[in-house]
Amino acid sequence: MMLPILLILAAYLIGSVSTAILTCRLLGLPDPRTQGSGNPGATNVLRSGGKKAAIITLAGDLLKGWLPVLLARLLGLDGPALALVALAAFLGHLFPAYHGFKGGKGVATGLGVLLGLHWGVGLASLLTWLAAAVISRMSSVGALTASLLAPLWIALILGDIWVTLAACVMLVLLYWRHWGNIRRILDGSEPRIGQKANPRR
Ligand code: G3P
Repeated sequence: MMLPILLILAAYLIGSVSTAILTCRLLGLPDPRTQGSGNPGATNVLRSGGKKAAIITLAGDLLKGWLPVLLARLLGLDGPALALVALAAFLGHLFPAYHGFKGGKGVATGLGVLLGLHWGVGLASLLTWLAAAVISRMSSVGALTASLLAPLWIALILGDIWVTLAACVMLVLLYWRHWGNIRRILDGSEPRIGQKANPRR
């Protein structure tokens, strides 16, 4: 009983580390929360800080989703306990304890969580993201499409109802966090991947 609680707490605290904010601070770049979309995530860091900072942000955000879930699996967690560890890492990114509970949109961390659950689920989601992002040239369209299909990949590949439910909760939160993106996609003002940062939208 104690181990799952400790792992859920650890997952939340690891997820709370904002790679985007730390990377930009260390490289002397502007705080991503004051640039472009205002999102502390790899897409916005690419706009405001360039490729190197974006790659580090992406890698760090993937890692903080992947690591706690993999550790939980290696320690024998499954079912609801594993689902809660997955959710906790994701919630850490959205509501980080170290940054006033104001975090990002959860795309890279969510992908890391899916990779930790099963490499096949992660790969299917990554390919979905790539296909939608390449076609639309919008990172948000990739994220919205990949997260919509993630519960399906989990149900088909893992067949675990608890983890599928956790992915559905992540889906709802991710759409909520992308509400501004959805409005911009609909009115045609959503920036394309790599477009430079304008003042905070
Ligand atoms: O990874 C987040 C992405 O889906 C959207 O980011 O900065 O364009 O709002 P952004």
